[in-house]
Amino acid sequence: MKITVDGPAGSGKSYIAKGISERLRIPYLETGLAYRAIGYLLLISEEDLQKVSWSAVEPLLRRLEIVPEVGRTRVLIDGKEVKEDLLRSEEVGRAASIVGTIPQFREFINDLFRKLVGEGQAVIEGRDAGTHIFPDAEIKLFITASPEERARRRWKQLREKGMEVSLEEVLKKILDRDRRDMEREKYPFRPAEDAVVIDTTDMEPEESLKTALGIVLKIQNEKSS
Ligand code: DC
Repeated sequence: MKITVDGPAGSGKSYIAKGISERLRIPYLETGLAYRAIGYLLLISEEDLQKVSWSAVEPLLRRLEIVPEVGRTRVLIDGKEVKEDLLRSEEVGRAASIVGTIPQFREFINDLFRKLVGEGQAVIEGRDAGTHIFPDAEIKLFITASPEERARRRWKQLREKGMEVSLEEVLKKILDRDRRDMEREKYPFRPAEDAVVIDTTDMEPEESLKTALGIVLKIQNEKSS
């Protein structure tokens, strides 16, 4: 059984995907971490992100290893595990979104994701898990929330980490990222037609996970009866 969980930044999709993986004891592949790891490597090599191309990204891929496990996705660069915090910044998120506009990268990394998961069970989280990576997945969820609420959540997280940023600034970045992800020429970000949409705008994380698990268990029961 493959379960895809797609959605925009700040929708709560990671909390839900991780929670489903833990509850069902199946591996969790957070695809965004591969984009973030490459974005991070580009940032530390001081590449001009606006001009970045496949030829700059391809050699970096050889240094990357992704390991899906129950409840987490491990990322290794040059054989060493990367601390998650390094990959979670806004700056790395923006770089990841730019990496996502390179079609050859998407084709390469999606092939790798398919090989990693193989015929096995997994929760696959991203932007295109249900549309391009596993279009035949048995269960597809699309998690969303209003841009204002997504910005508020990110702003709260940043404040908790001691960062002084305005809500307007965070909202602008969220809208910029949405636009880049949705308007890229090839493979633009869209919900799969057969995905179940969960709007988490008015939900606490626990409630959104409960809703998602309810849908997953219902579809599983229908398929097995
Ligand atoms: O899910 P995330 O916020 O960690 O993703 C960071 C960026 O990576 C996102 O803005 C676009 C890109 N991305 C993508 O294009 N496709 C994916 N499957 C995952 C991430």
